Amino acid sequence: MKNLKIAIGADHAGYEMKSHVVEWLTPLVEELKDLGTGSEASVDYPDFAHAVAGEVEKGNYEIGILICGTGIGVDMTANKHQGIRSALCWNKEVSTLAKSHNNANVICLPGRFISKEESQEILSAFLKTKFEGGRHSRRIDKISC
Ligand code: RB5
Repeated sequence: MKNLKIAIGADHAGYEMKSHVVEWLTPLVEELKDLGTGSEASVDYPDFAHAVAGEVEKGNYEIGILICGTGIGVDMTANKHQGIRSALCWNKEVSTLAKSHNNANVICLPGRFISKEESQEILSAFLKTKFEGGRHSRRIDKISC
């Protein structure tokens, strides 16, 4: 986890949780780049989802974290990017599988439906888990159309 470079973004509905995650996670990783939003003023979630997914797509960051109210809008947006496998995760079992089976490189959280403690559990599990490869690589190779 210590050598990970991560980009994070959220809309207004995810701003409070993003602030919490930034404070908690920054000392635990190599770099955590906050791409906004910077307040609870209303914004459009695709602007931040495209920013984070674009950085991961370009290889500037290994992992993206996105937060909006449900996690759905940012997840839909991130998955429009080639090379992005974005997963909406609401508990640590799901986030573990999102990495071990799907090799997700963007994780989306539903900021209005989980607690701050749960966000830490979900992200810790995701960031510590390794991709299993094998049959899962074959399946991932079939995702793009
Ligand atoms: C904002 O009100 C809300 O629609 C957004 O955060 C997200 O839940 C969309 O998917």
